[in-house]
Amino acid sequence: MKYLLLTYALLISQCACANNKTTAKSEKGSDTVKVVAPPPAPLFTDIIPQPLSIVKGEGRFTIDERTAILHDKELAQAADYLRLYLPIERTSGSSNNAIQLALDKTLGKEEYSLKIDKKGVAIRGGDYGGVFNAIQSLLQLLPHAVYSKSAQLPMEVSYIEVKDAPQYHYRGFLLDVARTFQPVHEVKRVLDYMAFCKMNKLHLHLIDNPAWRIEIKKYPQLAQEGGFRGGDSRLHPIYGRFNQRYGGFYTQDELRDIVAYAAQRNIEVIPEIDMPGHSKALGAIMPEILCNYTPKTSHTNGIDTRNVWCVAKENNYAIIEDIVKELVTIFPSEYLHIGGDEVSFSQWKQCPDCQRLMAQKGLSGGEQLEQHFLNRVSKILEKYNRKAVVWDEAVDGGLLPKTTMVTGWRGVKQCLSTTAKGYPTIIMPASVFYLDKRQSTHERGHLSSKGVSLRTICDFSFENAGFTAEQRKNIAGIEAAFWSEIYLANINPRGHFSDYLEYMIFPRIFGVAEVAWSKERRSYDVMYSLLKENFYRKLHCMSATFRLESPTIKVEKGKIFASTSDGSQIYYKDIRTNKTQEYKVPLNADMAPFVTLHSRLMTGYSNSVGTPSFYLSRTPEVAITSSMPFSKNRSAERCATYKTAAYTTRCAKAGDWVEFRFTSPLECSYLKVATGYAHLHRCLIYKGHVEVCYDGESFVKAGNLSNGAYELRPKKRAIHALRIVATGISDAENKVIIQPLVIK
Ligand code: ACM
Ligand code: ZN
Repeated sequence: MKYLLLTYALLISQCACANNKTTAKSEKGSDTVKVVAPPPAPLFTDIIPQPLSIVKGEGRFTIDERTAILHDKELAQAADYLRLYLPIERTSGSSNNAIQLALDKTLGKEEYSLKIDKKGVAIRGGDYGGVFNAIQSLLQLLPHAVYSKSAQLPMEVSYIEVKDAPQYHYRGFLLDVARTFQPVHEVKRVLDYMAFCKMNKLHLHLIDNPAWRIEIKKYPQLAQEGGFRGGDSRLHPIYGRFNQRYGGFYTQDELRDIVAYAAQRNIEVIPEIDMPGHSKALGAIMPEILCNYTPKTSHTNGIDTRNVWCVAKENNYAIIEDIVKELVTIFPSEYLHIGGDEVSFSQWKQCPDCQRLMAQKGLSGGEQLEQHFLNRVSKILEKYNRKAVVWDEAVDGGLLPKTTMVTGWRGVKQCLSTTAKGYPTIIMPASVFYLDKRQSTHERGHLSSKGVSLRTICDFSFENAGFTAEQRKNIAGIEAAFWSEIYLANINPRGHFSDYLEYMIFPRIFGVAEVAWSKERRSYDVMYSLLKENFYRKLHCMSATFRLESPTIKVEKGKIFASTSDGSQIYYKDIRTNKTQEYKVPLNADMAPFVTLHSRLMTGYSNSVGTPSFYLSRTPEVAITSSMPFSKNRSAERCATYKTAAYTTRCAKAGDWVEFRFTSPLECSYLKVATGYAHLHRCLIYKGHVEVCYDGESFVKAGNLSNGAYELRPKKRAIHALRIVATGISDAENKVIIQPLVIK
């Protein structure tokens, strides 16, 4: 009986956070009620990323209150980490009922062995990282509930022997905290997710055009003013949140706390100060770093949008050294990332000092001037015993030393080039490893021609990408990136800050982790089965949002049929009513232009998808006029014929308007008017409203713009015209983008 109760308790603990109701059944038809043993709890033998070797044993070890964690003295932090998940208090006891953590100098860097048998759990690692990696594998083999951090003992785990070592020692994740500030607890959450996948480098993108996020004691105004935009702050709003002061920065002590938290999780934090471009916020706070000319600002309402450090100002290198001096007291990492991407050379062309420097040094153009700048910054790093990492375009001119580490982001082609030139390269082409990119065609996220899906990542191979054995020797590792332009506008209004970020990370990060770690990798199909059978539940127990595959939809015999293969519940939303309902029976096919379907399972949800007709707009004849001039290439006519968005040649100010006038009064059930990029809340009119003309003469206000857009449901009233009216200046850009109307 004791055995039965024990097994039952285990089963409950497996499912405790999976919302599976499990009740003991009683057998009917007998006087005494017998408790029937539930089937044994499923045990897990799959680990992501795929280990080098797994040998499964027969039997299970039970971790209970008599089990001790025994460890070498250097591994106290690893034992503390394990106790965050397993409520084990014993620190001494028999080695026959223990989880033992030990260093083994016969193993390599980050290599480990994990053996579970009747004596308990024996973990050996070549170093702290090896032991930590083994702990991650152990956690994945335990019941899912372990990830809730409140699971009770006892817990069972299968006998198994795992031998494992990473393919690459650089398994990185870039978190862009510059465009969307993410508080310390959110950064720590990302570190937890990285640890779960055995990723070991957090590339923290701390500054960019929108903000400066790191306290520099010598220049306190950088973070105190450069960390905030909008409202009464000095910086004009961009990206998604416009009508209030927003942002934040990290104090040096907060960053030290992040570094320590990461180190316990075998993660090194590599900060990035992106230079010489991407420095608009810095330039707004310290204009003395910019080039020596007065910019034209008539099309940006007087806002100086210069974003490049002047190369010729000697004092700039003193400022950089001051910053580096403080950075090295926070980040013990061997490398510091100094940027070097997407530099606009036009500012140096207009600067007499930069032109003079180029002539003096015999530099051929912007590319070489950039390398001159980055070489000087690298020299400053050397003085502080640090090496530089740069983005791949920074080594195009070939002047940077071959010890410079390169992050290859633009494409596979550029990674092939830098590895061929002999630069140690972190492979992260945007088309495969940028997790801010959308995962399918009609989905939130950065534009991407085919989408970056888990399948894209699983299908990536160094051989197919064309790396020779020689080039592969220069691959330092892999990095995924989460750029956060779109994050700010997608923060879940229910208040779970991580929702969008998690949706973009999971499950794609599993694919990235395998590319970085595993010599033998799983195919997409095997990985997807594993998610459905096992890992979705682990994510649910962590309360992490994850992306499900979207429902499959087909229209047949006058009906819309939707299905999923993961057991999720499907819902449909009708844009005419803005209502979402459970999908229970096939929908009538005449709803196809108006409905999207999505599904939900545990903490996962899918993208909303429609049939092809949903993505089509009606195209009634319309004329577009505006108080702002339009560009020649992106004209109002092209927008009025529903081909592309129109671009104005300056940003908007209060009183500016854009009018859409229909040739014949239009009856429709839904109309969307939108400004800004379709995927990104930028170059939009954020402060304004929409007015509608129903009688051919007067306009009535319909409602305020939200993120530059407005959805109108006119309820059978014919529309003669509508107008967007700006009531404040738009974002700090030199244009407003007007999207073609969407009409149903
Ligand atoms: C980058 O995406 N500009 C590195
Ligand atoms: Zn200059």
